[in-house]
Amino acid sequence: KPSMTPRHFLVDTDLTQQEQAEVLELALALKADRWAHRPYAGPQTVAVIFDKTSTRTRASFSAGIADLGGNPLMINPGESQLGKESVADTARVFSRMVSTIVWRTYAQSGLEEMAAASDVPVVNGLSDAYHPCQILADLLTVREHRGDPAGLTFAYLGDAANNMAHSYLLGGATAGMHVRVAGPQGYLPDPAVVRAAEERAARTGGSVRVTTDPAEALTGADVVCTDTWVSMGQEAETEARARIFRPYCVDAAAMARAEPGALFLHCLPAFRGSEVAAEVIDGPQSVVWDEAENRLHAQKALLVWLMARSGRYDLDAAR
Ligand code: CP
Ligand code: NVA
Repeated sequence: KPSMTPRHFLVDTDLTQQEQAEVLELALALKADRWAHRPYAGPQTVAVIFDKTSTRTRASFSAGIADLGGNPLMINPGESQLGKESVADTARVFSRMVSTIVWRTYAQSGLEEMAAASDVPVVNGLSDAYHPCQILADLLTVREHRGDPAGLTFAYLGDAANNMAHSYLLGGATAGMHVRVAGPQGYLPDPAVVRAAEERAARTGGSVRVTTDPAEALTGADVVCTDTWVSMGQEAETEARARIFRPYCVDAAAMARAEPGALFLHCLPAFRGSEVAAEVIDGPQSVVWDEAENRLHAQKALLVWLMARSGRYDLDAAR
């Protein structure tokens, strides 16, 4: 049985500002030299469990784990005993066999249960509450196009109560950004998340603003982003949501309120004509394909860093 104290990544604030910057630096190095680090060479296996569908998370973890010398064990809904067997028992078994556990699921409490019983790092591959891997990729993209994200103004429009909004608040504040989130009444972020983001921002020089007014969020924004109005599990609400979120569509008029040349981000999958106009996502300010590619580099860096900080890989000796 491996003896280690694992570091987990369940929510954006699991990394300090300094640690987040280390992961992003490592991501840039790995992007420049795709085969630089091989913490799973042997190979060791990484379990990637999906309770929901995925294109980017699946492809980026699968390719990234292979790049790092490892063997990705992709588990789709209904393919394991998880759901019948307890999360804790699953964690105990996987801890004896795999090097890291990545899990896309519904409740955040499941990830916490998994981490509590796991001897290996546990990574949130998206939950109802947060999508922290996506924010690392987004910050990497901002860094590449605009330099250090600290001090930049970041506007998110749309479903401000979803996983992306919550992770932008926490991960953006960790990076020292001025994070502004706009959504309709009833679809605003969890107040506990806003408080946590404010606490983080107070230490990093960032700030947090929540509003129902899209113009207030957009004015002065260096980066504009949105997400689907219907997250996985909310499909029954599709029609109602299309009406409620209409004023928060990111179209050319919305982009015109932001700084000239502001970047446009979208975690994808995107629905043109709903949360974003084709003229924006397919236009010159959009960096969504870089953002999608950066899932690969950011997550490879995260996996390497977690192994190093869990005492299972010597980052310095490896170069
Ligand atoms: N952005 C993202 O997580 O995409 P997938 O749902 O395709 O993994
Ligand atoms: N908010 C979306 C993100 C998809 C990557 C969802 O949870 O479905």
